[in-house]
Amino acid sequence: MPDTLSNDAFVEFERVQKSYDGETLVVKDLNLSMPKGEFLTMLGPSGSGKTTCLMMLAGFETATHGKILLDGVSINNIPPHKRGIGMVFQNYALFPHMTIAENLSFPLEVRKIGKSEREAKVKRALDMVEMGSFGGRRPAQLSGGQQQRVALARALVFEPELVLMDEPLGALDKQLREKMQFEITHLAHSLGITTVYVTHDQTEALTMSDRVAVFDDGRIQQIDPPDVLYENPQNSFVAQFIGENNTLEGTVKEIKDGIALVQLDDGELIDCTPVNVTAAGERTKVSIRPERVEFDKSRLKEGSHTVKAEVLEFIYMGDIFRTRLRVAGNDEFIVKTRNAPNQVRLEPGTQLEIGWQPEDCRALDA
Ligand SMILES: Nc1ncnc2c1ncn2[C@@H]1O[C@H](COP(=O)(O)OP(=O)(O)O)[C@@H](O)[C@H]1O
Ligand SMILES: [Mg+2]
Repeated sequence: MPDTLSNDAFVEFERVQKSYDGETLVVKDLNLSMPKGEFLTMLGPSGSGKTTCLMMLAGFETATHGKILLDGVSINNIPPHKRGIGMVFQNYALFPHMTIAENLSFPLEVRKIGKSEREAKVKRALDMVEMGSFGGRRPAQLSGGQQQRVALARALVFEPELVLMDEPLGALDKQLREKMQFEITHLAHSLGITTVYVTHDQTEALTMSDRVAVFDDGRIQQIDPPDVLYENPQNSFVAQFIGENNTLEGTVKEIKDGIALVQLDDGELIDCTPVNVTAAGERTKVSIRPERVEFDKSRLKEGSHTVKAEVLEFIYMGDIFRTRLRVAGNDEFIVKTRNAPNQVRLEPGTQLEIGWQPEDCRALDA
């Protein structure tokens, strides 16, 4: 009897653990449920267990504990050629001795698809990545970006239900990477393919995904759509890892009416939203995004706490101004403002008071 699901998840990890050596767990307790058609990114630092999870999902590694289900069936019970999984890796392993068309034809031959149908599918897949006129070339005759598009076409040519991509754009330059990011998400969504995408690049994760699973230390720290992840990080790791973030350390003085009063280590008091602090006396790292800092007091609520700051550096970046301040002993406190008409340019040496809305200031674990 195959393992069956109680819901309509297409990919499911249930309490998955993985150890390579029988001692250390590199994946600790992974639970994940993906609906069909979702584009999910596993984002995290090197060594956090992303590739291991992808390899287990592909059936190339087995979970030490727990189970992984694909459309309700345990992946270990599906023979490799029936898994219907397309894969793309950073070091696109195209077969060097075959032409581009032969490279794409190969997964179809393995699946016993007839010649005329193969030719039609290969043509369609190459056209899809705008490589239609390159079928006769060999991989060495293409640029890195072109090879990566072929690798993508090869992963899609047999119309897999699930595509796994492990840092597929890591070797490309910035401009091409951004173009491919757009092409991949566009293709995945228009073909209705369920995608698990791995990257350590947070911008890539935020711009491409329906949901992002942030990995650290073999665990998913948070899994949410990009905007929720950025605006409501649930712990200090996620707040630091996603986007730019200012951190101030202090101690919770009081939690009342949904507001945490925090005393910073230099003695100043600020109002925060308590996220994962629960009681007075707890140490906390307070997190504020650089674009949410106010230095115009009239924009703050009556009676809001403000803190003293000194301008250390002003950087003109064209579309935005980036100002570095010293705040409560932190010399790396960044404020970003839009280059709007009449926008203030803060001069180094200026002393000022800054503040923020309590909902933009999150008291997290220390
Ligand atoms: N085949 C393997 N044998 C032993 N240890 C491995 C193997 N693959 C990965 N690891 C270890 O497992 C941990 C997670 O690795 P990996 O899944 O590759 O992380 P990521 O893809 O997030 O960088 C790392 O500590 C890595 O050294
Ligand atoms: Mg990896």
